[in-house]
Amino acid sequence: MASSTDTTRFAQFKLVLLGESAVGKSSIVHRFVKNTFDNFRESTIGAAFLTQTITLPESKTTIKFEIWDTAGQERYKSLAPMYYRNAHAALCVYDITNPSSFTKAQDWIKELKKQAPEGIVICLVGNKLDLSEERQVDEQEVLQYVQELNHQENNVLWAECSAKSGEGVLDIFNKIGRALPVEEVINGASSRARQVGSRKPGVDLARQAHSPQNSGCC
Ligand code: GTP
Ligand code: MG
Repeated sequence: MASSTDTTRFAQFKLVLLGESAVGKSSIVHRFVKNTFDNFRESTIGAAFLTQTITLPESKTTIKFEIWDTAGQERYKSLAPMYYRNAHAALCVYDITNPSSFTKAQDWIKELKKQAPEGIVICLVGNKLDLSEERQVDEQEVLQYVQELNHQENNVLWAECSAKSGEGVLDIFNKIGRALPVEEVINGASSRARQVGSRKPGVDLARQAHSPQNSGCC
C-alpha cells in the first residue's frame, strides 16, 4: 500500500532573470534547461519563456520553474516590471569581468526591493567564472555588499557560475529551490504565496513524482 512518504510534492514558481545585456542570462537559462552553450548567442528581444523542473531529494519536492529570461538592452527596461511583478524568485546577473554590470545588478536588487512582491527570493549571480583570470569584480566586495543587504532582511543569495562550462549553474537553482517557501505554501500558510499567486495558485499538492521536463521559447 502506498504511504504518504512515497509521494513527491510538487510546487511551481515563477523566476525572472534580470541584468545588463551580454552578462549571460540566456546562456545560464539554456545551460540549466537544455544543457547547451552557444559562443555566439543573439541578444534577447523582449523576453523568452522556458520551464525546467528540479527535485530536492531531502524534502521529496519537485519544483517547476517558470522562467522569464528578460532582455538586458536598455530599450527593453520598461518591460521588466511585467516579469518581476508576480515573480517568486529573481536572478540578478552580472559578469565577473565587467564592473559596470555589477553596479547594474545592484540597481536591479534595489528596484526589486521596492517594487517586487515582498519576500521574493533574490540571487545575485556572477557569471563567466571560466574567465576568472580576467576577473574585475572582487568576491570580497560582493560578499560585503550581500552581508550588508542581509543585515536588514535575509533574502539575498549569492553565487558564481559559468554558463560556458556549466560550473555552478544547477547549484543556483537548487539553492533557490531550497529558499522558496515550499513548506509554507504546501501547508497553506504562506500569505505571500497567496499574494503572488493571485492569477493562479503557485502549487499543486502531492502530485506523483514525474521526470524533468522543459519547453522552448514563446
Ligand atoms: P541580453 O539577451 O542582451 O540581455 O544578453 P544575455 O545576458 O542574455 O547574454 P547572453 O546569454 O546572450 O550572452 C552574451 C555573450 O556572453 C554570448 O556571446 C555568450 O556566449 C557569452 N557568455 C555567456 N555566458 C558565458 C560564460 O559563462 N562564459 C563565457 N566565457 N562567455 C559567456
Ligand atoms: Mg538574453
